[in-house]
Order: sequence, then structure tokens, then C-alpha cells
Amino acid sequence: MAVLRLGDTAPDFTAETTQGTLNFYDFLGDHWGILFSHPADFTPVCTTELGTAAKFKDEFDRRKVKVIALSVDPLDSHQAWLQDIAETQDTEVNFPIIADADRKVSDLYDMIHPKANDTLTVRSVFIIGPDKKIKLILTYPASTGRNFYELLRVIDSLQLTAYHKVATPANWEHGQKVVVSPAIPTPEAHTLFGDQVEELKPYLRLTPDPTA
Ligand code: BEZ
Repeated sequence: MAVLRLGDTAPDFTAETTQGTLNFYDFLGDHWGILFSHPADFTPVCTTELGTAAKFKDEFDRRKVKVIALSVDPLDSHQAWLQDIAETQDTEVNFPIIADADRKVSDLYDMIHPKANDTLTVRSVFIIGPDKKIKLILTYPASTGRNFYELLRVIDSLQLTAYHKVATPANWEHGQKVVVSPAIPTPEAHTLFGDQVEELKPYLRLTPDPTA
């Protein structure tokens, strides 16, 4: 199994899910994608994560992001678990969960880290661009639930920096000042972004969020 790194093409697969058998690339279409793994069904942290991701549907839709989860338990287990999630999280899960009982997708994406656990996946997150390239990889241990506000924040940054010659500073959120890409000389920054460019250092130039 090859190690996946940023910029690699996200491996395609066909898998059984709670919304039927699907091909990953067909599912993504020309959207951005989030593929995230769960250690096991009927576990407390995963239950809250799936409910939270479902409640963020409007935010993901606004950003043209398709969401798909994975757990190594079989489909009948996932279907039963969906009922518990609806009951306890006050929302229906509105995206597919892959039933990866044969570990095919988990292995493809290196989601099982044997020194953490021999059989269960860690909490992996892959953000994939419309070009099917991997833009972000996060790995959390089973004991730590993910922060979905952070996933939205990072998608905002990925989408902004994909289309504008800027980068986003520490703790940046949509609408706040951004930094001019280091490769852009300051005179060009003024041409691109106007007279609001602030040069704190030749390598540290701030400018308003061009999408705000
Ligand atoms: C959970 O999702 O709650 C969980 C799963 C595996 C280990 C610890 C917690």
C-alpha cells in the first residue's frame, strides 16, 4: 500500500454504503469531497461526529462539498446504528457511510494504524479537490472527536487559496485579513489587491480577504 500525501490523486473505489453501492469519483462529480473514517459502529464519539456532520449539511452544500464516512462494520450494523444516531443526535444522517468490512477502502487510504489498533480505523480525514487531488490529511486518535468547525474553516482556506494568490494566517476565518503569497513581489501585490496591502515586512504582507 502506497503512502498517500498531499497532492496525490485520491484513489478511486466502488463500495457498499448506506445509500447503495457507489463509485467514489461518480459520487464526487465536480465537487470537493470529505472522506472521514470512524473506528466502529455503536461507539459514542462516532455517534456525535456523524450527527454533527449531518447538521452541517447546509454549510457543506454552500461550499460544494460532498461528505462520505467510513466504518469497518457491515451494512446491517450501519443501518441499525443510523436509527440510534437519529434518536440521540436529533438528525438523520444525510450522507453515505461506507460499509468497509473487508477493509478495502481503509487499506487504500491507510486508515488502519496497527500500533493504535490492529483492526479498527483511526479518525482519518481526507479533503479532496474537484481535480481529485488530496488537499488535506488529518489523523485523530479514536478517543478524540473531530472539530467540524475546523473542517469548514480549512475548506474555506483551501477554496480561497486555490483561486487567489494568498495564504491564510493562524486561526484565520472567512472574512479576516489574509497574507499575500510569498511568491508575489509587493508591487505585483498592489496591482492584484489594490492599495489596502499592508507591508509589515517584505515577506509579510496583509490584505483583506478578496472574497469577503
Ligand atoms: C468512540 O467513537 O466513542 C470510540 C471508538 C473507539 C475507541 C474509543 C472511542
